Amino acid sequence: MCGIVGCFSPENCYEKLYSALTRLEYRGYDSAGIALLSAEGRFSVRKKKGGVASIAGEPLPGETGIGHTRWATHGAPSDGNAHPHLCGKFALVHNGIVENEAALRAELLAAGEQFLSETDSELIVRLIARAYRGDFFAAVASACARLEGSYAVAVLCADFPGEIVCARRGSPLVAGAGGGALYVCSDVPALCGAAEYICPAEDGEFVVIRGGKIGFCRADGTPIPKIFTRVRASARPRAVQAGSRMQAEIAEIPRALSDTLASLRDADFSCCRTAFRSAKRLLAVGCGTAYHAALCLRAVLEESGVFLSCRPASEAAGLCAGAGDLLIAVSQSGETADTLAAARAARERGAFVLAVTNVGQSSLASLAHCTAVMCAGPEIAVAATKSYNCQLLSLYFLAARILACRMGVPPAWAGDLAALPAAAERAFGCFPAVDSLAEALVGARGMYFLGRGADVATAREGALKVKEIAYLAAEGLPAGELKHGPLALVEDGFPVALLATVRSLARKCEAAAAEVAARGGRVALFSQYGEVLASSRAAYRIRLPAVAEALMPAVSVIPLQYFACRLCLLRGLDPDRPRNLAKSVTVE
Ligand code: F6R
Repeated sequence: MCGIVGCFSPENCYEKLYSALTRLEYRGYDSAGIALLSAEGRFSVRKKKGGVASIAGEPLPGETGIGHTRWATHGAPSDGNAHPHLCGKFALVHNGIVENEAALRAELLAAGEQFLSETDSELIVRLIARAYRGDFFAAVASACARLEGSYAVAVLCADFPGEIVCARRGSPLVAGAGGGALYVCSDVPALCGAAEYICPAEDGEFVVIRGGKIGFCRADGTPIPKIFTRVRASARPRAVQAGSRMQAEIAEIPRALSDTLASLRDADFSCCRTAFRSAKRLLAVGCGTAYHAALCLRAVLEESGVFLSCRPASEAAGLCAGAGDLLIAVSQSGETADTLAAARAARERGAFVLAVTNVGQSSLASLAHCTAVMCAGPEIAVAATKSYNCQLLSLYFLAARILACRMGVPPAWAGDLAALPAAAERAFGCFPAVDSLAEALVGARGMYFLGRGADVATAREGALKVKEIAYLAAEGLPAGELKHGPLALVEDGFPVALLATVRSLARKCEAAAAEVAARGGRVALFSQYGEVLASSRAAYRIRLPAVAEALMPAVSVIPLQYFACRLCLLRGLDPDRPRNLAKSVTVE
């Protein structure tokens, strides 16, 4: 969802900016751009449609610069709509959405401004240029005060070489320092390996790089004292030797699970005890994959008779979380606008908010009462994989605490959490069978993923993965729903992935397999139970490793993640950069 970066460095500023942009690219790859400002106040700009590689070239001169990777919202991906946007003495990069765009555009047009792009971002640089009376910071602050919606901006002014003024409201922004450079950036992972110390900005704050120093202040210029913290080594993306990021991230799942478990065991959740024991209602929200993780939490709690209401965060208004409720907000990035809005609304109405996130310094972590930080490590591929497994582990860990508080004893499966990393490793043993499945289905135009109980969430996640990276029309459904309509699409060769990991429901799953097979459909059955596989009519049988049934979704999803990746590669697509998507969705 657009990435912005700013850098002041007396040496190799261009190289540092370009390298940060490559790490930021997962936020958008519709276009990229960079502007450097020389000590004499001259701009050098390069911007183009396409990914960051499209602006590779000779280093541009200057000690101060800004850069941008775009996920298009206002205006098509094009050279003209690429950031930075320039007006008079100013260059600007922006992440967010200007909601009062129409009114501001009309006002600026009436005042004689001519726009060079279709973006809402260009409005901001024009507002700054018009507000400028020789005070750079004041011009940016006055323009920001006129904006409705969300923004993180970084601005250069030709009269002030060596300075960058940045502001944030609703879109993430973090300051960093290290390696002889000062940075501002949309997120922590992009600074890893470059900055040694970081400090996130809060909504309404400004970050200013001036005179070789970096500081925070309010709109009236009052300084805000801040403490920079050291970047954790695990926050640095690992190098990928070969293949895609997504493959590398799937390979990291066992390590990510054991790091997450170790960190959860060290964490202090004592402030959640009252909410765990006696919250009136238990609620959970998340988006996309994170929502599927919340569905798994619901399944595991319901199994023990504890009810949890669960919604996609964009639909959370209907939950009406309020005083006495516990809201669990799940988000890999901790920056997803819908999840933040749901958590903020719940907190304002008096609910206790518990965040589960991969980024300890994210906006979600700072607004929650308590945060379970997973240690998946940076997830760069757009499709979530290892973060999902870690979300599930974290939610199961919390579910065990909730059930212990409510029932007096932890659930029987709590002791099996430690077995998850090894079970995840054993799930890699399914990959050769999944390779054959992907080869057989490479020409498919659509498919179903079916399951019962907790397997429904896994089915939905499998379908989401296949949709987003292999562009296959896929649907994840409760197996019992098949006969109530979806069966109409099943014809000769139609593929159906069926999960049967709950022994007590396996017979009913087989009924769905029979319904599909009777219409010529091809069933791929996933189960850890040899007898379930042996007695099935499925055309493909994939044996999952054994682990406590309640925890199975954290393992059974791995062959599905891998399947989507293989299908995508066999179709000649790039799993790391699916069309139309971005990793971090910071608009509602
Ligand atoms: C799917 C995917 C998305 C994210 C969703 C929420 O592979 O990555 O569905 O899960 O956009 O993102 P976070 O977890 O960062 O809030």
